[in-house]
Amino acid sequence: MYILGIETSCDETSAAVLDDELRIISNVVLSQDEIHAPYGGVVPELASRQHIVSIGYVVDESLRRAELSIQDIDVYAVTQGPGLIGSLLVGLSFAKGLAFYFEKPLIPVDHLEAHIHSVFLENKKIPFPCLALLVSGGHTSLFFLEEKFQNQLVGKTRDDAAGEALDKIAKYLDLGYPGGPIIDKMAEKGNSQKFDFALPHMTDQSLDFSFSGLKTAALRKIKEGRITRSHPLFIDFLASFENAVIRALLANTDRATKHFKPRSLILCGGVARNKKLRRDFEDMARKNRLPSFIPSLDLCTDNAAMVAALAVEKIHDLGEMSLSLDLNAYPRL
Ligand code: KG4
Ligand code: ZN
Repeated sequence: MYILGIETSCDETSAAVLDDELRIISNVVLSQDEIHAPYGGVVPELASRQHIVSIGYVVDESLRRAELSIQDIDVYAVTQGPGLIGSLLVGLSFAKGLAFYFEKPLIPVDHLEAHIHSVFLENKKIPFPCLALLVSGGHTSLFFLEEKFQNQLVGKTRDDAAGEALDKIAKYLDLGYPGGPIIDKMAEKGNSQKFDFALPHMTDQSLDFSFSGLKTAALRKIKEGRITRSHPLFIDFLASFENAVIRALLANTDRATKHFKPRSLILCGGVARNKKLRRDFEDMARKNRLPSFIPSLDLCTDNAAMVAALAVEKIHDLGEMSLSLDLNAYPRL
């Protein structure tokens, strides 16, 4: 059985073919970074228009690389939400059209659940219950999974997502877009203790995150210290800010670990590509004597392989197989 997955929730147009043993036959990701770079962030209207331009080509390319034709596809899977509504609708409408025409099932997939399941693609034996930290440009959330399909949202950001905070500071400093990977690279040799950032603190004991305070503190330091690329402590500043974001992420994850007592920890989402976050997350897991699972780099950022993977698991574990043309996209959780 072959599954074709389609992902268009934000600014990546992606299509992937998997077999029913979760093997990735092809995974094509067409990034729109160049289109959004001049604006320093994703422009929703431009994103949806570009998905319309790219989707046919990307699906064709995923089949070409898999050496299959569209008639070989047995099941379609597509991201239903959350995400940018216009972008989601392009992928959803395209997938509905294919499933309807070829009379095949269409499995709708939740984008956040798919990010978590990107880990199951590479690791078949993850001990449950587990705690998953999902960090991307649009989301920063903690999920507690009693079982594979029982996920409970136990913490989320109350303002910016962690990736968004990194992207915004990079934009302010004119470093380019997306800022997360640029800061990751530039901060490598910096001293992360040089600038002091106070961590956000929730007064109500919740496991929610907040990054707007850190972002405001960073902007204040930039203005007061006249920090630009040519400042002698520029690299140290980036390293300190990156470190503050990571400490905020891990402080909550550590608290949640002590509270929920999971048997394993998962890190996923675009920001999970960050080298220091990967290292520090593994350290934190070791200190809690828990195994940790992080997807390989290509599966962290938005991609259709994770969408198809979740669909395969839904078929196997939940027996889900149908085609409903009433499916609609949902922008938020
Ligand atoms: O998961 P993703 O592709 O899209 C969303 O669902 O948001 O994540 C994109 C985010 C961006 O904010 C980008 O700056 C961040 O992931 N990112 C990184 C790195 N690579 C991507 N952040 C820090 N370090 C990286 N190496
Ligand atoms: Zn994502």
